[in-house]
Amino acid sequence: MAVSIVPTQPIAGQKPGTSGLRKKTRVFMEPGYLENYVQAIIEGVGGVKDREIVVGGDGRYFNDAAIAIILRMIAANGATKAIVGRAGILSTPAASNLIRKRAAYGGFVLSASHNPGGPDEDFGLKFNVANGGPAPEPVTDAIFEATKTISEFRIVEEAAPPIDVVGTFDLAGMTVEIVDPVADYVEMMRGLVDFERIRALFASGFTLRFDAMSAVTGPYATAILEGELGAPKGTVVNGTPLPDFGHHHPDPNPVHAKELFDVMFGPDAPDMGAASDGDGDRNIVLGRGISVAPSDSLALLAANLHLAKGYTSGVKGVARSMPTSRAADRVAAKLGVGMYETPTGWKFFGNLLDAGMATICGEESAGTGSDHVREKDGLWAILIWLDVVATRRMSIAEIVADHWKTYGRDYYSRHDYEALPTEIADAMLADLRGGLTDLPGKVFAGMRVATADDFSYTDPTDGSVSSKQGVRIGFEDGSRAVFRLSGTGTQGATLRLYVECFEPDPARHDLDPQMVLAGVLEAADVIAGIEKRTGRERPDVIT
Ligand code: G1P
Ligand code: ZN
Repeated sequence: MAVSIVPTQPIAGQKPGTSGLRKKTRVFMEPGYLENYVQAIIEGVGGVKDREIVVGGDGRYFNDAAIAIILRMIAANGATKAIVGRAGILSTPAASNLIRKRAAYGGFVLSASHNPGGPDEDFGLKFNVANGGPAPEPVTDAIFEATKTISEFRIVEEAAPPIDVVGTFDLAGMTVEIVDPVADYVEMMRGLVDFERIRALFASGFTLRFDAMSAVTGPYATAILEGELGAPKGTVVNGTPLPDFGHHHPDPNPVHAKELFDVMFGPDAPDMGAASDGDGDRNIVLGRGISVAPSDSLALLAANLHLAKGYTSGVKGVARSMPTSRAADRVAAKLGVGMYETPTGWKFFGNLLDAGMATICGEESAGTGSDHVREKDGLWAILIWLDVVATRRMSIAEIVADHWKTYGRDYYSRHDYEALPTEIADAMLADLRGGLTDLPGKVFAGMRVATADDFSYTDPTDGSVSSKQGVRIGFEDGSRAVFRLSGTGTQGATLRLYVECFEPDPARHDLDPQMVLAGVLEAADVIAGIEKRTGRERPDVIT
């Protein structure tokens, strides 16, 4: 085989964040940029010689060209086999499953998740390790170190084989196996949820609208919902993955999935609405006239998981990211199982799942998953919801109201301030951190602070510590505000403000969250000086 060893220089700033490296697509397309980062990943993960590697992505612009480069590079670095989703497609949970099922060394997952795709939008790349989950911090640190010292990359001169048909090819001595991206995933779901029971639900006239937002979940949702489960054709909308996601911003929130929200709050709403994101790991579930807050969805799925086919032996533990509401904690307490509060980002759940300490985990950012893979899984969550509805035969709204009646309601909201000047955002967080010890006892906008800290996490499985994970302010009335900066944005800085308060009284469960949370929002604004420092009167996105 003809390997080119191409001299290169470190490219500044190739630091993987919570979900790998995200940049503008044109940055990834600059000569040598992707190659540089891929070689750094290969070094950082300890080489790929004699390894089998999974490769796939969410189908966004540059997906196929990037895969061709990755294949030529892992061949040059001695990998024995690449397992590639046909047409370069693998949803993030499907990639996680494939890595596990094939006992591969790991996988390259090409995605910028919910960020828009296209030549002028975003691209991303991360490496998942042998357990199917995102590379843990020591590995991402090693990758980052490699980006600083890299002096050459290796690439074979042969062209990569076509990837749009299933089959086995040779690339300079490495086997390239092109697989159906959907088949293994469908098999896994068949074991986890009761296809017969859900089929009966659809046969009884239950209606669903699943919006794939022209992103990766289209083929998966069509095969399962309309194929296996017999939902009528047209249940899946925007079901063809497009390189620019058809100009959708594939983030299933009220702003970007407005079409779906409008239908679900309109006169002709089906029984259930659902959507996933660009790479298929997020989910949102709606009923007629109601959208289920992701934090509530996690709590509710934890409380009902034993009803689903693959979980009849129950839940071993529940994990949530720190800014996620405390609704799940109430369920874990009632079940008498462990509850783990982790930093934002899925990689922290992996150790807990591997250790059998948690069965289900989730984040307020519309991510829920279980120990079936090591990523959050959008379609999985939607299928579990369907299995719960099929078993309980109640509407989504009834199931949610019943949950609040049992556990109380954790009113919750996240306010995002996007594309802030980095210096302003950094200074705001630095000043907050600097003043934490002075806050307890002080009153802001009528709210007295009880506790204030910067979240630090000690992983119970390996003792590793992750500090500075977000500022938490607890108020005397039990409500909470959390401040952190996004690790996935590609433009300036994004401030995320998360607020919540608990309401046990069912007579007060139908209020507008923004109204209920107005007091804590105002106190948070005064404490951090959001409007004063940024000049922004309101957030860009409220979820
Ligand atoms: C965001 C979400 C976080 C999620 C991550 C990857 O990260 O808030 O929960 O794990 O995307 O999907 P952030 O931009 O807040 O760092
Ligand atoms: Zn995603």
